[in-house]
Amino acid sequence: MVNILQFVSSWALIAAGMAYGQSGLLPKKFNTIPLGGVRPSGWLADQLNVQLNGLAGHEHEFYNYIAQTDWMGGPSRYSTLEEAGSYWFNAAVPGGVLAKNDALLGKAQEFLDYVITHQEEGGWLGPEAGKANTTQNPRYLWGRYPFLFGAIQMVEYDPSQTDKVVTAMHKFVVEANRMLHAGEGMEIWTQTRWADLVMALEWLYDNYPRGQEDLLIDTMKQVKYAGVTWEVVFLEENFPKTAVDHLRNPTGWVLAWHGVNLAEGIKALPAAYRFTHNESDLTRTSEGWDLLFKYHGRPSGIYGADEYLAGLEATRGTELCIVVEMMFSSSFLFQMMGDLKYLDTAERLAYNALPAAITPDHWAHQYDQQSNQIASRNMTPDPFDVNTGYANVFGLEPYYPCCTVNHPQGWPKFISHAFLTTDDGTSLVQVYHGPFQTTATLSGNNNVTVNVETTYPFSDIVSTTITATSSYTHLVRIPSWVVNGTISINGGQAQLLAPKNGFQSVPIPAGQSKFVLNLTPQITFESRPHGAVAIHRGPLLYSLEITYSSKILKQHPQEPRAADYEFDATSEWRFAVDPKTAKAVGGAAPGDTLPSPIFDSNKPPVSIEISGCTIDWDEAGQTFANPPPEKPKCNGAVQKLKLTPYGATNLRISEFPVMTA
Ligand SMILES: *[C@@H]1O[C@H](CO)[C@@H](O)[C@H](O)[C@H]1NC(C)=O
Ligand SMILES: *[C@@H]1O[C@H](CO)[C@@H](O)[C@H](O)[C@H]1NC(C)=O
Ligand SMILES: *[C@@H]1O[C@H](CO)[C@@H](O)[C@H](O)[C@H]1NC(C)=O
Ligand SMILES: *[C@@H]1O[C@H](CO)[C@@H](O)[C@H](O)[C@H]1NC(C)=O
Repeated sequence: MVNILQFVSSWALIAAGMAYGQSGLLPKKFNTIPLGGVRPSGWLADQLNVQLNGLAGHEHEFYNYIAQTDWMGGPSRYSTLEEAGSYWFNAAVPGGVLAKNDALLGKAQEFLDYVITHQEEGGWLGPEAGKANTTQNPRYLWGRYPFLFGAIQMVEYDPSQTDKVVTAMHKFVVEANRMLHAGEGMEIWTQTRWADLVMALEWLYDNYPRGQEDLLIDTMKQVKYAGVTWEVVFLEENFPKTAVDHLRNPTGWVLAWHGVNLAEGIKALPAAYRFTHNESDLTRTSEGWDLLFKYHGRPSGIYGADEYLAGLEATRGTELCIVVEMMFSSSFLFQMMGDLKYLDTAERLAYNALPAAITPDHWAHQYDQQSNQIASRNMTPDPFDVNTGYANVFGLEPYYPCCTVNHPQGWPKFISHAFLTTDDGTSLVQVYHGPFQTTATLSGNNNVTVNVETTYPFSDIVSTTITATSSYTHLVRIPSWVVNGTISINGGQAQLLAPKNGFQSVPIPAGQSKFVLNLTPQITFESRPHGAVAIHRGPLLYSLEITYSSKILKQHPQEPRAADYEFDATSEWRFAVDPKTAKAVGGAAPGDTLPSPIFDSNKPPVSIEISGCTIDWDEAGQTFANPPPEKPKCNGAVQKLKLTPYGATNLRISEFPVMTA
């Protein structure tokens, strides 16, 4: 019986594939699990609560860009679906669901219902609904994309809302298609971010096409061909090899060198590949990714772009929106291409670059974080190009408010993408390491529950317990930095890992089973400009924490916890280090309870001890450090230094001069 059913269903799949043939959408290699299927536990559940006890869970109560009683009647075009409301909603849905925060989820629900019930007759979604004067308030497509992502997540979490959302999306597609054919709806920012509309429409096509396949694909093609030609941007001869401050963009797509546009746009060609079927859309993206990191990469896992691409210098910044968008994009690139490099990066971003730019209590964030950050203050002079000196202040909306509303998507989407399924639905894929609980139904009605007990990345041990209705092959990611790691299955002897394409296959029988990974990270050293070195162990980057005095610059009149701060260094930071002496210290056991919040001074239970000495190292105008001096001489005695996880520091040195004998 089972066999016959399987035969019939695979025959049906083949027939369906033949039916849409060359004009349809190619599948992804890996698929996401509906929102709510992957949940955080342990320290990660605590971290999400910390986030929602901070700005992310409260900004709708007081912050002018989103705290509207009439969602459409915001104070400026920035509100609702132009940028602020849309970004906020995209994060509020998964945040509310995964933290079981009913207040936030209720507000997100109110937003969704308002937008849908105010949809225009013609299909347009947004604040201009009912206001026909499009000269005054032109309609651009982009602001709707994060809203669509949020709505999709809501449907996945609560299928009872499918009909109203899917119907609204289909109505919107008709209008978007009309606009695109009429040459409307695009401006230079919208042109860079077409990937997100394509992905939202692909979701509709995959799940609820309602016979509109041709219209959906035509709309995807229209928005792609009206937008940035990423295949040209990512050509080696066009790609910038230094900070772009004074460079002319040979492609003419000036905004394609903008940091957030790149983080969103790197998904574009792989998203389009599903309908272009052009393999070079994938290879060009992979090459573009490598160029981005080679010429602009940071040891925290991100690339430098304080506003536009910023080269390799340790004091040039990275906007927080880039971090969260790259986390989301990396997962999608993996889903399309199956390359481990995207996941290794996403995990480094989550455990380093994301927490580093936010205060431990999650009330204040930076627009730009720096690898070497010796102050957080109104920087005059500042090391950035476009951005003014306020860009590295921790605050409510330092420099520009987009990250105020966009950064909360980081943790929840990292969590919801921690497990995927293979395209044929037969295997569960454990892609990020951390404490998670997952329930999913694999093909053949195979109900699987997974409990990952670990304090990773503050421990090297990941213990996974699985209950399955029937047997299947479980795939678990083995990060590229693992050397001689081991696996022990059901209490058996530890065996060397033997991953294929970055994944270890673990045969799971029906019933309960358990396996324990020991990922045995080594301390590794990354060469940085000026002969400097960055120090990693496993997914964590280690930094010298700088203590500081804190001064409130500004406080929100209704919410004193929403404040802007100046941080000035109170400890010595001018050290060179001797890499040979680096030694890992500490580590938590899988069942340990970690301090809360964990990303705070001296809280992580891991550190690296290293010898160093003070050197001459100047500041640039009392605000930021000069580049690390090359071949510096000690001007003091050699001493032991403690390096801590980058994500737990607010001021730090991460790119160190190397001690000369
Ligand atoms: C629309 O707005 C423009 C720009 O503010 C204004 O000049 C025009 O008179 C308005 N048209 C209508 C019909 O209100
Ligand atoms: C495939 O994409 C490459 C660049 O990514 C482009 O040069 C080429 O023309 C495309 N091929 C087709 C058939 O469109
Ligand atoms: C799997 O779970 C679903 C939903 O909880 C349930 O309806 C179904 O009967 C389960 N299947 C098996 C084989 O246990
Ligand atoms: C890994 O194991 C091999 C074989 O035992 C050994 O030669 C090598 O030194 C080990 N590498 C590390 C980093 O432990």
